[in-house]
Amino acid sequence: MNVRNAIRFYLNDRLVELSDVEPDRTLLDFLRLDRMLRGTKEGCAEGDCGACTVLVGRLKADGTLAYEGVNACIRFVGSLDGTHVVTVEHLRGADGGLHPVQRAMVDYHGSQCGFCTPGIVMSLYGLWLENPTPSVAEVETALQGNLCRCTGYAPIVRAARAVSTYGAAVEDALNRERADIVARLKALKDGQRVVVSAVGGDLIVPASVDDLAAVLKERPEATIVAGATDVGLWVTKFMREIAPVVFIGHLTGLQGIEIAEDAITFGAGVSYRDALAVIAEHIPQLRELWLRIGGAQVRNMGTLGGNIANGSPIGDTPPPLIALGTTIVLRKGDARREIKLEDFFIRYGKQDRAAGEFVESIRVPRPAADEFFAAYKVTKRRDEDITATLGAFRVRVVEGVVAEAVVAYGGMAGTPMRARAVEAALVGKPWTMESVEAVLPAYAEDFTPLTDWRASAEYRMLAARNLLRRFYLEMSGEAGTRIVRHEVA
Ligand code: FES
Ligand code: FES
Repeated sequence: MNVRNAIRFYLNDRLVELSDVEPDRTLLDFLRLDRMLRGTKEGCAEGDCGACTVLVGRLKADGTLAYEGVNACIRFVGSLDGTHVVTVEHLRGADGGLHPVQRAMVDYHGSQCGFCTPGIVMSLYGLWLENPTPSVAEVETALQGNLCRCTGYAPIVRAARAVSTYGAAVEDALNRERADIVARLKALKDGQRVVVSAVGGDLIVPASVDDLAAVLKERPEATIVAGATDVGLWVTKFMREIAPVVFIGHLTGLQGIEIAEDAITFGAGVSYRDALAVIAEHIPQLRELWLRIGGAQVRNMGTLGGNIANGSPIGDTPPPLIALGTTIVLRKGDARREIKLEDFFIRYGKQDRAAGEFVESIRVPRPAADEFFAAYKVTKRRDEDITATLGAFRVRVVEGVVAEAVVAYGGMAGTPMRARAVEAALVGKPWTMESVEAVLPAYAEDFTPLTDWRASAEYRMLAARNLLRRFYLEMSGEAGTRIVRHEVA
């Protein structure tokens, strides 16, 4: 395997080549401290506020170029090999003055103190390139990951919807020069493994999935980083050492999606964003949940495999995937094994993954036509918030009686976990509200949730039980009352 000892990517209109970058150097620090590009702001440094939003253009498996908003504060420079990074300094209008997005923000009074504004401009720029005439709902979705504490969102939404009156997206530089940019990015892909050694340790960018398997055999202790939406915080908030780091977010060999009659198989590197259209079409019950995973920037970066491999008890996808009977393929070298997702989570912080092994693919069975299926996420804030409790339910009813029930939760234990006592109590019972009420005490056998700053143990237990009530009411059509406030003994 040929090895290159430098990361290469385009930053606005310049080629950047770095042979001494630290494995945990964030894009935000690189821009602000190394390149003095200070239009990109630091607010939270944890992927929440969007002040650091930039666009990253990447070549997808089909050869097309996608520009996606990302949080520069938690994106590592090492993950940028072969991409095009676009910052707010790159924006300009056809006359060399303000860009149409910037002019709209000025004219519609979309900025007060201005701290959030460059990030909002970049999110709206990314939206406008793809969708020049967005609806209010589409603007709101695009801005889920951008917080503004002083302007209020109404003027920003008005500005977003007016951008096309200031210029045509097809005439924007990133669209006009797209073929040239694609050619330049393709030229960067030389099929070599990248290894950069710096004071802080090594960073490795494998050339392919097979090369990833080889790298992990050589460096089984390495931290595997896909979207960095969690690992980024290990660095910015917990000051953890993560070297050596193996970046996998660029591996198109992990980004395939196979749709079969009975199941959908996702490569572990499929981002939430790339999975969304498939989820919306084939498992529409998960669409709303999907759109509540982080904000747009987090969905652009985060991957299904990362959400699983990370083992968090409050990851958004494991409970519904467990409820659907998902299996995952783990690979070490050339050896592969397939296990049930629910068996992957052993205890808090401990997953069934050996050193040097990685999650390669995720097979998600589609809910059958005769099954009820839903998942609900409970948070303090509707958008871009971390789960307090997340319940997922799959129930098959035959002649009015529960024949099969799979109930899984996040936020109720040290791992995502099935509620087996609740399931056992449901099976064989008539599918009625009386049965649902009768099984609620079984939650105490399954779970002893924690109190933390997201929710108290009592709140979590009440919410978990209410989600089963909600599931029944929605599935049975008896949803006269959506909110049930009483507690069981
Ligand atoms: Fe807040 Fe990056 S600084 S999301
Ligand atoms: Fe002040 Fe948005 S304009 S935070």
